[in-house]
Formats: sequence, C-alpha cells, structure tokens
Amino acid sequence: MMKFLCVFLLSLVLCVVPSTLRAQLDPLFYKHTCPPLHSAVHQVLHHVSKGPAKDKRLFASLIRLHFHDCFVQGCDASILLNDTAAIKCEQLALPTINSIRRLDVVNLIKKKIEKICPGVVSCVDILALATEMSSEMSKGPNWQVSLGRRDSITTNFDLATSNIPGQTSNLPQLISKFEKKGFDVNDLVALSGAHIIDQVRCVLSDLPNCTNDGSLGKNIANLDPITPTTFDNNY
Ligand code: HEM
Repeated sequence: MMKFLCVFLLSLVLCVVPSTLRAQLDPLFYKHTCPPLHSAVHQVLHHVSKGPAKDKRLFASLIRLHFHDCFVQGCDASILLNDTAAIKCEQLALPTINSIRRLDVVNLIKKKIEKICPGVVSCVDILALATEMSSEMSKGPNWQVSLGRRDSITTNFDLATSNIPGQTSNLPQLISKFEKKGFDVNDLVALSGAHIIDQVRCVLSDLPNCTNDGSLGKNIANLDPITPTTFDNNY
C-alpha cells in the first residue's frame, strides 16, 4: 500500500500540472541555484516536529495542504494566497475552511530559504518538498520529488469549493472529482491511504473514539488508533 501511495503522491503532482510545464520539472532543478534547499527544508521540519512544541500532526497537515493546493488549478501554491480586493482566498472554501494547519511552518521554511537563496525557490516547490519529506519523516515512502514549478498569482475559490472532495462527498462524486484530475479508482483508493496519519475533527466524524461536543475544531481523533503518526499499514 505504501509503495502505491508513494507513486500516486508523485502522480498527484504530475497529473495536475500542465504538460508544457511537466517536461521542465526535475528533482535537481535547484542543484546549482540553491544547493542547500533539501537540508534547509529538512532542518525546519525536524525542528518543528521534535522541538519544544512537538507537533506530531505536522506531517499529516503538510501533506493535506499540498493535496488541497494541487486539486484546484494544479500545484501552484494558490492555497497560500490571502484574501485581497482581487483575490478570494482558497483557504475559505468549504472543504478547506477551519481545517488547514501549519501555514506558519511553510512561512518558516520560505524565510529560511530566502535568506540562503533569495528569490530562487517557488513556494509550490517548498510545499512539494515538504510533502515528500513529511511522508519520509513519518516512516513512509520517499521519492525524488520533481521541482521547478511556478507560483500562481491567482486563486480559484469556485474550483476550490467544487473540486476538492469533502466529508459529504459520496462515492460517485469522489470518483468523478478524481477522474477530472486524471485519476482512476485505484488512484483514489491509494491516495486516500494518506489518511493513515490522519486526524479528523470530531465535528465531522462519528468515530467511536470521538467526542463530538459541537465545537468547531477542539476535539480531534485519530483514524489509525494504533500508530497514528506512522506511515505504515495499520490503518
Ligand atoms: C478521497 C477523498 C478525500 C476526502 C473526502 C478527504 C476528507 C478529509 C477530511 C474530512 C479530513 C479531516 C479534516 C478535518 O478534521 O478538518 C481529512 C484529513 C486529511 N486528509 Fe483527506 N480527504 C480525501 C483525500 C485525501 C488525499 C488524496 C490526501 C493526500 C494525498 C489526504 C490527506 C489528508 C490528511 C493527511 C489529513 C489529516 C490532516 C491533519 O491531521 O491535519 N486526503 N481528509
């Protein structure tokens, strides 16, 4: 299952970028322009996950952030753009609102990278790299993520609302939403394996280990009650 998910996480990134860009993507894209990129991203993730605050949910939240970015208008970091007069923030779309976490960590990584290699690395590549490392650092699969994407200067709130699956999507809707992105049912099942390190707000769930007190985000439960932070086959 883990190998499948690895391949499909990779294809999540590949399928949702236009083919004209795809040819230019390369794991070594920043080899000459920002050699310390990988170690810098790794250092921040290590520090935040093991540091004083010890956020065990960090890796799951970053993986989901990347998924919610890619399913709108391709992987382009549009999910990071805030509300302005011209832009409607995708974070406020129904499948995403109140549930996206650790944007602050993406900012931390971006600040660190900007100090080392100013104006070189895109935010979307930081998200892609952080996602790959999140899988690896939670003992899941690793792969050489291709880099070289460009950041968007636009969002699409309507697509963020309609394209991203939510807890109320039924099976035909899930199949159709994934089909629109070029994924079949096998891909849907494999990608859903990311919930192996998932935590869900009880307000959305009727899990037996959940106490739903009606609060919008205080009570959370593990989908995998045995090894909730390890990317394994126990789910
Ligand atoms: C198949 C359709 C999917 C549905 C209906 C769905 C739905 C959800 C829901 C309702 C939550 C809980 C959100 C909350 O508590 O506020 C969640 C969490 C999560 N989802 Fe999905 N999801 C889907 C696919 C995916 C995919 C494809 C990935 C990544 C490849 C993914 C990764 C995650 C992760 C890692 C979490 C936990 C986030 C955290 O703990 O912060 N999901 N998902």
